[in-house]
Amino acid sequence: MQIEKIIVIMGPPGSGKGTQSKLLGEKLGYVYFSTGALLRDIAKEGTSLGKEISNYIDQGIIIPDEMMVEIFRKKIASLGNVSGIILDGYPRTPGQAKILEDLLPELGNPKLTALFLEVDKQKLLGRIQKRKTCSKCQAIYLETNPEYQSVICSKCGGQLVVRADDDLAVIEKRFEEYQTKTAPVKQHYEKLGLLIHINGDQSIDRVHEDIKAALGL
Ligand code: AP5
Ligand code: MG
Repeated sequence: MQIEKIIVIMGPPGSGKGTQSKLLGEKLGYVYFSTGALLRDIAKEGTSLGKEISNYIDQGIIIPDEMMVEIFRKKIASLGNVSGIILDGYPRTPGQAKILEDLLPELGNPKLTALFLEVDKQKLLGRIQKRKTCSKCQAIYLETNPEYQSVICSKCGGQLVVRADDDLAVIEKRFEEYQTKTAPVKQHYEKLGLLIHINGDQSIDRVHEDIKAALGL
């Protein structure tokens, strides 16, 4: 594999990782994927692995590294020839960051950049509680969108649902997991000089513009 660049999009729950990964992926022609969406797809299969994953996600707990790493490696291997990858929600622990770093030589030593979306927690709670997600294509519908009332995704015909982990008690657990397990990854990338801070508390377009400017696009 000969990948030129990997961009890691980091940030707490609801900070816009999915939204910005899609915009940036389309702009650059890079493959982008969310490990959260990938895990939700496996959970839907109802296998014993799926049930185990579902159990973690529904409680707002991140999946153990041993399990996540297998899934991540398999996904990367399935991508084929791509010039760049945007990772939404991976790595989420120092162990996952190490796996990614160890994988770089196999991928042709791509340049690694991490973007961190900063948004205040109160704002995030509001955002997460005002969305529906398509269970098939992962499109997001905000409360302000007339289609929010629908149960069918207008983009792909999939079911529009409120994610099981978007319940307030579970959201709190996701924040706790983020603070204890993922914040150290942010510090790690900061120390390596790979982290770019982005003000995520602006309009979606403005955040996208800032990301492009930070990447020199
Ligand atoms: P995951 O699906 O990644 O959830 P999350 O990190 O909690 O983040 P969200 O998807 O809720 O938010 P987001 O940052 O993508 O924001 P979005 O663009 O949707 O993970 C779910 C679970 O899977 C985890 O809890 C864990 O169990 C498991 N998991 C995943 N990866 C794992 C890993 N690597 N290891 C182990 N376990 C893993 O935006 C949020 C809302 O705000 C939307 O409605 C959006 O339209 C809106 N919005 C976005 N930007 C703006 C803006 N600028 N202004 C106003 N509204 C905005
Ligand atoms: Mg997301």
